[in-house]
Formats: sequence, structure tokens, C-alpha cells
Amino acid sequence: MNSTWVKNAISEINADYQRSADTHLIRLSLSAFPGIQLYLKDESTHPTGSLKHRLARSLFLYGLCNGWIKEGTTIIEASSGSTAVSEAYFARLLGLPFIAVMPSCTAKRKIEQIEFYGGRCHFVQSACEIYAASETLARELNGHYMDQFTFAERATDWRGNNNIADSIFRQMSHEPNPIPDWIVMSAGTGGTSATIGRYIRCQGHNTQLMVVDPQNSVFMDYWQRRDDNLRSSVGSKIEGIGRPRVEPSFIPDVVDDMLRVPDAASVATAQWLEGQLGRKVGASTGTNMWGALQLAARMHKEGRSGSIVTLLCDSGERYLETYYNAEWVKENIGDLAPWQAEIERLLVR
Ligand SMILES: Cc1ncc(COP(=O)(O)O)c(C=O)c1O
Repeated sequence: MNSTWVKNAISEINADYQRSADTHLIRLSLSAFPGIQLYLKDESTHPTGSLKHRLARSLFLYGLCNGWIKEGTTIIEASSGSTAVSEAYFARLLGLPFIAVMPSCTAKRKIEQIEFYGGRCHFVQSACEIYAASETLARELNGHYMDQFTFAERATDWRGNNNIADSIFRQMSHEPNPIPDWIVMSAGTGGTSATIGRYIRCQGHNTQLMVVDPQNSVFMDYWQRRDDNLRSSVGSKIEGIGRPRVEPSFIPDVVDDMLRVPDAASVATAQWLEGQLGRKVGASTGTNMWGALQLAARMHKEGRSGSIVTLLCDSGERYLETYYNAEWVKENIGDLAPWQAEIERLLVR
């Protein structure tokens, strides 16, 4: 039987959900692609600033209902930052201690937000080390390792309402092409792409799912070869997406196509989007939009009309010192000019 504390914790999360609003679906009309509409599901407007707000809520409910999280349990998570910000918010809501295990290069703004919500940050050198360090801390502190990379795909209820895919299809219902030809998403845990892919199948929609993958990530090779021992010795430079190992939450069979996106193309596209939206987006949104633009160009060439949906994962305000700092970009990502030219070329009618 549930303890009173667990019952109260679950009602706290449900009440918080009831006070929340859904995120917007923004339409981009690009004159280069007549008859093709592009949409961005704007996940930056959640209270903790990213799509990970949904996941954090689901992971806490999953942990509480499984009996893994109890009064006073220290919550530990391996993260590139966004999930940790959202989990710190929910940990504070429930009065639980929270420790984020992250690579030392994580954006400063995310670190500040975790600390703002009362969380502690534990740094490791590279993305490859976050898993073992989290397990060790959980053992030493008798805490609960949330493990988003394993549980993201199963903590989310992909079948029915309340998930991001259901929200996208409902918000598309009055659009000229309400059933998207494509939904494009990048993978960090792979949880969001799993939710979208399963939902599409469950509802019987004729929508295809493309997963875009940055440099130094093993997801695309895994999708092609199904070798789950694949490893990359270098972490992804696009925060939040691309992993050095095959994550259990990445479900390859629900993905129709994958595309490798160079890091410089992701950053160039994120910066280009600022001119379209009037505000900055994170680099993973650039990766997503790069994929969406390639598909729009392909559909246009084939004389097709239709719609493409992708995600605005988080705001660029978190990355002013990195993706929006020309010096940092030059040193860490390289020359954006060829990719800026490529975007221009795509958009010439
Ligand atoms: C900014 C950002 N974009 C995209 C993703 C990928 O989402 P998912 O973990 O559902 O694959 C993440 C995940 O951490 C993220 O932080």
C-alpha cells in the first residue's frame, strides 16, 4: 500500500500538471517551399525551459508508483543538463535532495538553474563517465539513480493523451495538411522519438519519423547495423543530443529514416532560425530544423505539398556563451560559412 507521503507526492505532481498549460505549435511559412508548411513544437516554454519538463514529471511518477522514491530519498541523475534542471524542479516540489551528474562542459545557465531549484551538481570530465559516477553516488548515498537513458521510453505513456505526439496531432487538426508527412526529432535518451514513433503506429497515421543525429553519436550507426556495442570516445558537442553509447531508450524500429547532421550545420541553422522567429533557440533545435529543411527541399523537388513538424527543444538564452559566441564557435565547432551558404541555397526559389 502507498504511504501517505507517496500519495501526497503524487497529488503534488498531478496538481502541478493541472496548473500547467500545453506548449505552442509555431508555423513557419517559407516562400521557397510553396504548399509545404513547417511547424515547431515549442518546448522551451515549459516552466523549466525544455522538453525535459515532460520527462522529469513522468520519471518522478514512475519512480513513485514503482516504490523506488520515498520520503527523503536522494535523487541522482546522469544528464547533459536539461533533464537535471527539470528534475531539480520536481525534487524541490517534493522536498527531496537532488544531485545532477554532468560533464564539466555543461552550459553555465543550466548549472545555475539546477542550483536555483536547490539541486547539487557533480561534474565528470566527459559524457562517457556520467553513468558510472551516478551509480556510485546512488550506492554511496543509498539514493535513487533516476536513469533517464534507460527509463525515458517506458516512463512516458505513448498510447493515449498527454504525450507530446498526441498534442502535436491535436494542434495540427485545423491546418491545411493536418497529418504531417514527417516528424523530425533528434535523440538524447531517444525517449521522445520512441514516444512519437509508437504513437504514429498506434494511431495508424501515414506520418514518417526521421531522427537526426549529430557528429560523435552512435545512434545512426546503431540504426543501420544494430550493433549495441558501438561506442564513441568523444562526446557530442550538441548539448542534449547524440550519445557515445547505444541508450536503452532509443527504439530503432520505430524510426523510418535517419540523417547525420554536421555540428556546424546545426549551429548555423539555430542561428538562422533566430532571424525567422525573433528569438534564439538551442543547437539541438538547429539539428532538428536542418533535417526538416532537407525534407522540405526534397518534397518541393518532387512537386509534393504537405507538412513537416519538428521540435524547438530549448531556448538559445542558455547558450549565449557557446553557440551564440563567435569565438567559442570558431574554436569548438568550426567555420559556419559553408553551412550558412547551404541554407541560403536551399531557400532560393
Ligand atoms: C536540448 C535537448 N534537445 C533534445 C533532447 C533529446 O530528447 P530525448 O532525450 O527525448 O531523446 C534533449 C535531451 O536531453 C535535450 O536536452
